[in-house]
Amino acid sequence: AESTFKLTYATMFNPPEELHTRFEQALAQVKARLGHEYGMIIDGKEVFAEKKFEDRNPANTDVVLGIFQQGTAEDARAALAAARRAFPAWSRMKWQDRVALIRKAADLIDQRIYEIAAVVSLEVGKNRMEALGDVAETADLFRYACDRMEANNGFVVEMGRDPLVGFEARNFSVLRPYGVWLVISPFNFPCALTGGPAAAALVTGNTVVMKPASDTPWSVRLIAECLRDAGLPDGVINYVTGPGSTLGQALIDSPEVDGITFTGSYDVGMHIYRSFAQGRWPRPTILEMGGKNPAIVSRHANLEDAAAGIVRSAFGLQGQKCSACSRIYIEAPVYDQLVSRLIELTNKLSIGDPTERKNFLGPVINRKSYADYQAFCEELSQAGTILTGGKVLTEGEYAKGYFCTPTLVANVPLDHRLWKYEMFLPISTIARVESLEEAMRLANDVDYGLTAGFYGTEEEAQWFFEHIEAGVVYANRPQGATTGAWPGFQPFGGWKGSGSTGKNAGGVHYLQLYMHEQSRTLIR
Ligand code: ALA
Repeated sequence: AESTFKLTYATMFNPPEELHTRFEQALAQVKARLGHEYGMIIDGKEVFAEKKFEDRNPANTDVVLGIFQQGTAEDARAALAAARRAFPAWSRMKWQDRVALIRKAADLIDQRIYEIAAVVSLEVGKNRMEALGDVAETADLFRYACDRMEANNGFVVEMGRDPLVGFEARNFSVLRPYGVWLVISPFNFPCALTGGPAAAALVTGNTVVMKPASDTPWSVRLIAECLRDAGLPDGVINYVTGPGSTLGQALIDSPEVDGITFTGSYDVGMHIYRSFAQGRWPRPTILEMGGKNPAIVSRHANLEDAAAGIVRSAFGLQGQKCSACSRIYIEAPVYDQLVSRLIELTNKLSIGDPTERKNFLGPVINRKSYADYQAFCEELSQAGTILTGGKVLTEGEYAKGYFCTPTLVANVPLDHRLWKYEMFLPISTIARVESLEEAMRLANDVDYGLTAGFYGTEEEAQWFFEHIEAGVVYANRPQGATTGAWPGFQPFGGWKGSGSTGKNAGGVHYLQLYMHEQSRTLIR
């Protein structure tokens, strides 16, 4: 049956009961078909590789979710060639027809939202609300890309008529697609961070090859299916899976790629940036990299809002968001009171199977993250004071997953490396500051500039906005100090080492990144 309500940004924070029933039904159906093998999608066909890899559940590593293909450099070439062949017809199609297809794909995502969210929850370890959020955001990113295409009339603008006596000259600025676009996405928002860039590339007339993180091939496959099933011609959207070191590198090294959107770590992003610069001419490179996102709390703040927003942003999705709040600067007069409230709220967070309604935290993504968490906690316990958390959970229901407790740390010297290093885990460090100026200096003293949060008076908040070096900033938001941007509301992207373009996804300047300008003058 059709859902009787539409899942939106608003329902995320106030979910109706029906949402839970429908999620649970979908979860049971998904669990009944675990362990199947899935192909890659190249030129509209299912393609299988000689070697396979297993996709396992991070909450219970005994469970094989599916078997996926270890694509090779040959598969990379085939996918790029298919995208190249599909480009002329797709780019010349009326943009209104492309918009109609992307809107149809958004509707298909909505129809399958509970099923896809169940897969995301199992594969990523997201709690059910976060999983539903990832899928709902993807459909909204598709629609927002279509809205922007319409609002800009396909990006055709008539320019001034130059004063050429005796001629009838008309001038136009036309934005046109580049060609074949590569989308490389991370595990943490597999749907939105593959689907969002893909929709922007597609609606503007590019063809796409998508390569998911090796931890999340299934979630991304379902988004690729929705695009395929909406009726995109063969080769317009291609989906390949396999190791970054071979398949991914073959894609990045290929002269057949005209533009790339990569979301992931700073190190890999900068590697791609440099590799991509080896091509014969400059090509657009959209990089969305990490964050080391601060929250600053003034002595005038509403401490309840601050505590709620910080805890949600520090520990949502186990701290594995590029937008996670990993640094907390608190003015001295309210330090003790806020810190005890942060500890209290953190200790109330339930950890466990993320598909279960009661749990806020699931497992971290894989063995490496699990080991990193233990090493960082060890290092931080030497350097400072672990206020809460700092341990992995290994007994009973936790025995077979990568479960880490949410961790708050104080008294870490301000020159310690972990104040600047993105851990991408449920760990946040806290400092007492004497003034907002001191907090601002510390907040900006990192290579990143993605998101930032503030709690205090309106006047202080305006000062914060003016001085903080970050692409997405919030003041006095209990739903999240640094997280929870939504397309069409909070355009999302970073400054400095967090991003390459200075134009945010889900915002009014984003689609333009996927096109080059042609200035047309016609005299008749
Ligand atoms: N859109 C996600 C957030 O803002 C990354 O938290």
